[in-house]
Amino acid sequence: MKATIYEGKKTFSVVEKEVEDPASDEVRIKVAYSGVCGTDVHIYHGMMDKRVSIPVTIGHEMSGTIDAIGDGVSGFSVGQKVVVRPLDDRGVKPSDKGFNHICEDLKFIGIDSPGSMQQYWNVPAFTLHKLKDETDLKLAALIEPLSVAVHDVRLSELQADETAVVLGGGPIGLLVAMVAKETGAKVIVSEVNENRIAKAKELGLNAVNPLKLDLVEYVKEQTEGRRADVVFEVAGVQPALDVMTEVAGIRGRILMVAIHGQKKEIDLFKFFWKELKLIGARVYEKEDYERAIELITKNELPFEEMITDVQPLSNIQNVFENIDNNPDGMKVLMDCQA
Ligand SMILES: NC(=O)c1ccc[n+]([C@@H]2O[C@H](COP(=O)([O-])OP(=O)(O)OC[C@H]3O[C@@H](n4cnc5c(N)ncnc54)[C@H](O)[C@@H]3O)[C@@H](O)[C@H]2O)c1
Ligand SMILES: [Zn+2]
Repeated sequence: MKATIYEGKKTFSVVEKEVEDPASDEVRIKVAYSGVCGTDVHIYHGMMDKRVSIPVTIGHEMSGTIDAIGDGVSGFSVGQKVVVRPLDDRGVKPSDKGFNHICEDLKFIGIDSPGSMQQYWNVPAFTLHKLKDETDLKLAALIEPLSVAVHDVRLSELQADETAVVLGGGPIGLLVAMVAKETGAKVIVSEVNENRIAKAKELGLNAVNPLKLDLVEYVKEQTEGRRADVVFEVAGVQPALDVMTEVAGIRGRILMVAIHGQKKEIDLFKFFWKELKLIGARVYEKEDYERAIELITKNELPFEEMITDVQPLSNIQNVFENIDNNPDGMKVLMDCQA
């Protein structure tokens, strides 16, 4: 079988490997599609070389079918369409209070252990979620990032009569905006890249450029002065942190979705003044995966438009180089059987 290997120094190789039998409590998946995530791009840039065990196969946004079943695994059959929830929470302790998805000893499959950018992939059976026979495997590769969005919107408790502002219209921001809009709420996306603004509009979203208009004034106009009930920070930059406390109205909830690797400046006075809430949101729980699977299977939202390229595994080096050269693209999938 073909497997891609991250070798360090912005280099991938594609190798021929033996297909391995699944160990007990594992299944072997025939991987259909594996999406490229921002985290994979960070790994490619060498930002996570201390964490990943080079050489290694990465990837965690995937879809596939069960190809072989290890000892002790029940409830699955060969050919079943599945996705993996890539959280290895086997180190969970009572002090984690039942929040397995953010337990102290959480291992992320595809970063801390081998991932899905290969033809066949062995994973613990407890990570699997079943899909319906009719679920489109290409769209199903979006279930992992969509689950992030579902989790963020769930924790925000966004209501149908409220307004949400999404700061950042990358893949995660646009999925957050789509899920937020699905609740019936009014949604405004703020994005600085004009091509991504055009993409957001293609998805039926209201998107504006904060470099071209005063975002706070615009949100006030759209809400009769109330400003946003919920703000999703999905840009990960200081200007978004500066504006999030401004666009939020009285008792607004701010969801911190972006990963800020360094300490940043935030206007804490605004938290006191408007009784704001800041809510951290990290990955997803089982129920978020089930909801994302339902949304993808129903396919009533324009998910297809999120996929901007599909490439064979053999092109992996090109795929990562192109992502670096083109900040407009949205979700690129590796076709793991092509
Ligand atoms: N919480 C989680 O579990 C989780 C999961 C996945 C990703 N993330 C994080 O979510 C963030 C978004 O992920 P992504 O893949 O969409 O990233 P991305 O970099 O593709 O998207 C960020 C977007 O913000 C835009 N932007 C930059 N400056 C802006 C500004 N001043 N105002 C508005 N928009 C601005 C960029 O043009 C870009 O389109 C990242 O920080 C990522 O690490 C978090
Ligand atoms: Zn991801």
